[in-house]
Amino acid sequence: MSQGNQKLWNGRFTEATDAFVEAFTASVTFDFELALFDIEGSVALECLVYRCGIIDALLRRTRQWQIQTASDLDHKSYPIEDVHMNIEAALTERIGEQGKALHTGRSRNDQVATDVRMYLRHNIDLILEQIRHLQRGLLGLAEGHCETIMPGFTHLQVAQPVVFGHHLMAWYEMLRRDADRLTDCRRRVNTLPLGAAALAGTSFPIDRALVAELLDFEAVAENSLDAVSDRDFAIEFTSTASLLMMHLSRWSEEMILWASPQFAFIELPDRFCTGSSIMPQKKNPDVPELVRGKSARVFGSLIALLTLMKSQPLAYNKDNQEDKEPLIDTVRTLQDCLRAFGDMIPNIKAQPDNMRAAAERGFATATDLADYLVRKGLAFRDAHHVVGRLVGLAVDRGVDLAALSLVDFETESDRITEDVYSVLTLEGSVAARSHIGGTAPDTVRAAIKRAKHQLG
Ligand code: ARG
Repeated sequence: MSQGNQKLWNGRFTEATDAFVEAFTASVTFDFELALFDIEGSVALECLVYRCGIIDALLRRTRQWQIQTASDLDHKSYPIEDVHMNIEAALTERIGEQGKALHTGRSRNDQVATDVRMYLRHNIDLILEQIRHLQRGLLGLAEGHCETIMPGFTHLQVAQPVVFGHHLMAWYEMLRRDADRLTDCRRRVNTLPLGAAALAGTSFPIDRALVAELLDFEAVAENSLDAVSDRDFAIEFTSTASLLMMHLSRWSEEMILWASPQFAFIELPDRFCTGSSIMPQKKNPDVPELVRGKSARVFGSLIALLTLMKSQPLAYNKDNQEDKEPLIDTVRTLQDCLRAFGDMIPNIKAQPDNMRAAAERGFATATDLADYLVRKGLAFRDAHHVVGRLVGLAVDRGVDLAALSLVDFETESDRITEDVYSVLTLEGSVAARSHIGGTAPDTVRAAIKRAKHQLG
């Protein structure tokens, strides 16, 4: 549909825009997500223009209009170009001639940069709350598993025993760094571009610090050219989001493996799984699989935004309109994945017997035996060799180290005595690692307590 006669910028044009070009250049179908922030920004800017005595009465009326409009406007109301024009047209239709003053002292260039920052800041706050919720869920689960022994893995081979709570706290630490990064990123998002106008600033005597205050920005962008063209903040957010998704994908991978009958370490709640249309026995871990898969689109958005900005000359270029879809998609994907995990994690059911059996099968206490020999005076490298031979013997017999006789042990080293059996227990192994960051049950309890305190 041609909107030629509704255009807000066609004074100098002698022919209507080509219909395809109109559709090709429009962003309203996706940038409408910014509508509420656009209105809020408009009100604040006009408020200050008003204070400077440039526009009268508009302020009161836009405020009133803001409240009405928020509830009943959608991108189909005024299907023109972009959200900014859409809202200006809506305002003019509703309050008449004065609406035309809305664009005083600004440009869509500083307007869109402001809207995107407000949108992102709002959503970062929601995401941070979702992360905290997930962290609380993790702590709750970890608390119940400070003594639940499972194998810790390296190379996906049984390495040393750990407690399940310790493993969960590793996930917690990843989220803690993600939350830190997001909080830090929010500071740079929260800088006000408005006042930069098209690129060089405005000739109206505006007080940018006051707009920043009205809109809760922590700082004012210091250079007008940079203010309208900078999208670092969006790239930074998407890279932070990529790290978070990378973590969720690692975590998903573990849940998928653990929920498989081969591991059977955990059971996922039925409501987070789906069945197969052909194989009646299947209970598929679709939610973690999808989260793992969705990390791909977030990484894709990061690359898209980096590539979008690469080589762009100052200042604003229409290329920048392409920032919205990857950014909005990243926000939604993150929120959906965090929502799924926030509900699912506290409801994971551990299978402690299976975890323990797996830890017993993989010679998980071999390092403890080597450490024992070191305490008896052998150099670690020699101890490693002795234990390697003993493991070989146990493999041949198809038994665990603890099932070897004292005579077997003595054949390899006369330093081994009856007390060796106590270091071969899983409980002894985890309890021995009681330094900060270790897997001893009491240490894990202390870590959970610290984390609870940090979360508040
Ligand atoms: N829809 C545009 C965007 O997202 C708004 C800014 C348009 N500015 C311009 N000079 N054409 O970037």
